[in-house]
Amino acid sequence: MTDKLIIFDTTLRDGEQSPGASMTSEEKLRIARQLERLKVDVIEAGFAASSPGDFECIRSIAAAVKDSTVCSLARANENDISRAAEALKEAQRARIHTFIATSPLHMEKKLRMTPEQVLEQTIKAVRYARSLAEDVEFSAEDGSRSEMDFLARVCEAAIREGARTINIPDTVGYAIPEQFGAFIKELREKVPNSDQAIWSVHCHDDLGLAVANSLAGVYIGGARQVECTINGLGERAGNCSMEEVVMACRTRRDYFHLETGIDTTQIVPASRLVSRTTGFVVQPNKAIVGANAFAHASGIHQDGVLKARDTYEIMRAEDVGWSANKIVLGKLSGRNAFKQRLQELGITLGSESELLAAFARFKDLADRKSEIFDEDILALVSDESLAPVKEHYGLVSLSQHSETGEQPSAEVIFTAGGKEVTGTSTGNGPVDASLKAIESQVQSGADMVLYSVNAISGNTESQGEVTVRLQKEGRIVNGVGADPDIVVASVKAYINALNKLHSGAVRVKAQGEGV
Ligand code: KIV
Ligand code: ZN
Repeated sequence: MTDKLIIFDTTLRDGEQSPGASMTSEEKLRIARQLERLKVDVIEAGFAASSPGDFECIRSIAAAVKDSTVCSLARANENDISRAAEALKEAQRARIHTFIATSPLHMEKKLRMTPEQVLEQTIKAVRYARSLAEDVEFSAEDGSRSEMDFLARVCEAAIREGARTINIPDTVGYAIPEQFGAFIKELREKVPNSDQAIWSVHCHDDLGLAVANSLAGVYIGGARQVECTINGLGERAGNCSMEEVVMACRTRRDYFHLETGIDTTQIVPASRLVSRTTGFVVQPNKAIVGANAFAHASGIHQDGVLKARDTYEIMRAEDVGWSANKIVLGKLSGRNAFKQRLQELGITLGSESELLAAFARFKDLADRKSEIFDEDILALVSDESLAPVKEHYGLVSLSQHSETGEQPSAEVIFTAGGKEVTGTSTGNGPVDASLKAIESQVQSGADMVLYSVNAISGNTESQGEVTVRLQKEGRIVNGVGADPDIVVASVKAYINALNKLHSGAVRVKAQGEGV
């Protein structure tokens, strides 16, 4: 017999709490659409009461997403819960996720509340949330460090008041798998009405055990919802990684007897999108989505795989969305072929003009790069859609000079509000010189807090993909750019970030920043 495991994705809420994982509303919406393509059951879109920006963002995600439940976090008070309900008004399926801490430490030191007050607050909050939504989840923050009998009373009360899902977070990543699994099991046994709710786990990765703890919560404890994020993004060491949990359940179906509804072929595109948007690079040896996850370097392994794939491979790369790095399009490909490949990759561009702009970029790339891979197309399209901001600055041309023993210099011609401007500078390297050349004219005064370069496909003919993060007066924006020339990619990323600063695209405040 196989049970369903509900996948609750919190990349846009808990994942975004990761310092620097800044996302604008447009970027969050784009990730939400990809999560829907992945077929996650629940998308936690944000924390409505934390800021007007987060509220609006949840609203737009709730209106756009049709196939997944859209959820907002809310502390256990009327104001937060009302804001969550309001933001979710247009959702086809809405969930209010309300939480309060239940561990002695959090109750005493953070909330300054007695256990009885916390119990009372839980009852009021869940009752109020149920008056506004059918689907209510209750989380006992720092649940894994809570006292069992008290936690059981709180969970029983939450279920009695109508919470359909009870989530037990390991908020500080303190749990150990067997212990956590047994804890969930005992808790469910202690709660008399436990069969009236779905039990859920939410684990942080401070000891590198988030996935193991989540799976133990499921296998030993009987939880049937896992809260997780793409690439394990999240505060401190991150959250439980969605791709690892999903592929563990799928690859070891014989052991877990669980099915998720996830379209696993969308995992790598989702991972790349999140990484590109946040600037958080995926380590090459990361399970499932790392560049080396399916690379066999040793001769013995290669020989084995050639003879029989399953000698050394427990999953197929294509099942998680790694394309076989095949050449898909070239210089002579037309607009229809381009459009068709986009459809095959599950990408729908918003309008005909977006398609035309992406196709123009494709043609430009094909002039300079003879083989265009799926990865190139994904980068091209994300360039297009991650930067729907009105372009105030635009690159016209770049020339730079670097030679051993000489200081690199650059001249960049770009448009600013339609007027052509020329900037020149020297720098520590060609990238530094080029960005300083732009800054000499723009004088944004922004601090660069991240610069990262990645090769899109495997070799030096590949495009370089650059992420630049700028910070100015409390605002943080990420710019991305891709090009076979990494200096050009860097300039594109920098200009993309400057356009966002100029357009006023605001990073949506993460939980706790605005509350
Ligand atoms: O880690 C945690 O406890 C949380 C809750 C708010 C669900 O993120
Ligand atoms: Zn969390």
